[in-house]
Amino acid sequence: MSTPSQEQDRVLIFDTTLRDGEQSPGATMTHAEKMEIAQLLDEMGVDIIEAGFPIASEGDFEAVREIARLARRASICGLARAHFADIDRCWEAIREAKRPRIHTFIGTSPLHRDITKLDQDGMVQRIHDTVTHARNLCEDVQWSPMDATRTERDYLCRVVETAIKAGATTINIPDTVGYTYPRESAEIIAMLRERVPGADGVIFATHCHNDLGMATANALAAVEAGARQIECTVNGLGERAGNTALEEVVMALKVRNDILPYATSIDTRKIMNISRLVSAVSGFPVQFNKAVVGKNAFAHESGIHQDGMLKNAETFEIMRPEDIGLSATNLVMGKHSGRAALRAKLSQLGYELADNQLKDVFVRFKALADRKKEIYDEDLIALIQDSAASGADDHLQLRRLRVICGTDGPQEAELTMTIGAEEKFVDATGDGPVDATFNAIRMLFPHDANLELYQVHAVTEGTDAQATVSVRLEHEGRVFTGQSSDTDTVVASAKAYINALNRLVLAQARGNASAMIHAG
Ligand code: KIV
Ligand code: ZN
Repeated sequence: MSTPSQEQDRVLIFDTTLRDGEQSPGATMTHAEKMEIAQLLDEMGVDIIEAGFPIASEGDFEAVREIARLARRASICGLARAHFADIDRCWEAIREAKRPRIHTFIGTSPLHRDITKLDQDGMVQRIHDTVTHARNLCEDVQWSPMDATRTERDYLCRVVETAIKAGATTINIPDTVGYTYPRESAEIIAMLRERVPGADGVIFATHCHNDLGMATANALAAVEAGARQIECTVNGLGERAGNTALEEVVMALKVRNDILPYATSIDTRKIMNISRLVSAVSGFPVQFNKAVVGKNAFAHESGIHQDGMLKNAETFEIMRPEDIGLSATNLVMGKHSGRAALRAKLSQLGYELADNQLKDVFVRFKALADRKKEIYDEDLIALIQDSAASGADDHLQLRRLRVICGTDGPQEAELTMTIGAEEKFVDATGDGPVDATFNAIRMLFPHDANLELYQVHAVTEGTDAQATVSVRLEHEGRVFTGQSSDTDTVVASAKAYINALNRLVLAQARGNASAMIHAG
């Protein structure tokens, strides 16, 4: 394993978790969650953060604007279709950034030309006009021919040339439907660099979707052919099968620096933190055997592997857990641990909490320590995520839950909640304790959102382990997720359901529960 050096050719990391990732059904994030993710992306060294699609909704606009104001080192990028109004709105959102970037795109493949009803010449004209308009506003303009990998090669060269002449500084080549193959991904970049006049004055980027599981391979093949920007998302979040995973390309460039001699500016020790944060916020659990950040990525179960590991970790490990910010799971705290010890432990795990946040987490920690003998790192992380997901000013709050269950149904839930300023009680039955609890919530707070997903995961081993529950609700075409952890699975379920409802209430209050514009 070799380490990237300072002098190496750099590959820029463009993170689109907050735009392409957030578009994946069910991954909607609140404003505060987007800020938290953006801050960590900035801290860990991401070069460009695609913060959203400003014209899509008021919420997107506000989020992009605030991220633009807050980011310290990353360029802040907003997405815009090939319309002047989109580009103007995007510029308005990003203009206060230290390094603003407009990313404008149009679908160039025959299928997309049919949709936009533009012939080849008409589309070239549109690209010329919109990129020129963007460049008149902003020095840094990225242009993407959506569905590039299914666009006729000669025409792709023509549109890329048009965008470069109009002032684009980065040309991104999206494999929008995850159709390309590594060799082909490389050939397209090589062809553009060779055939398009002005290609040597721009940066080529690669943006791959993972429909055939080849996104990481396609992105790295593009880099070998001369692309110097990889577009990716944390945990590979994104529409359908998702995008290239940030952690995979970054670690591949680090671990296989012998054959991919390119440096990134990512502090890889923050990878686990951002992965956990994005998973908690999006409600998308990370698959256990996911490359780099999966729970089992560093677990060695078989006797032969364990024996090898004890003798020399490199026998079965190509990267060290600490390289991605993973400390071996260890017993950390007990009920006698104080606030200072908790703060120090959380800091070691990468969480620097403000005093009021620490106070809240400490109360929860003490309550957990009373119920659970051994408290692991994962328990503390679940506590932090829980405390971030709910707040004292939430419209709906769980006060008390008592459930009667067993072999003789029906199961029964007695639930007390505050809804606004009012405290309400109900007694409901159902097919099982969770069903009874959810029925009780629906009785106290009638709504017509559909429950799309209900998922339970144990945080650690053992029968006293906390359970993390994820709930996804669908309402008028929009999706709201909630997550919560507790040693009592039914309590965690109730809190997760209530979290999702609070997000729905918030979206309604902001009046943005209407349909959103989606890009590829
Ligand atoms: O996949 C895609 O084509 C996109 C573009 C908007 C860049 O996300
Ligand atoms: Zn995309």
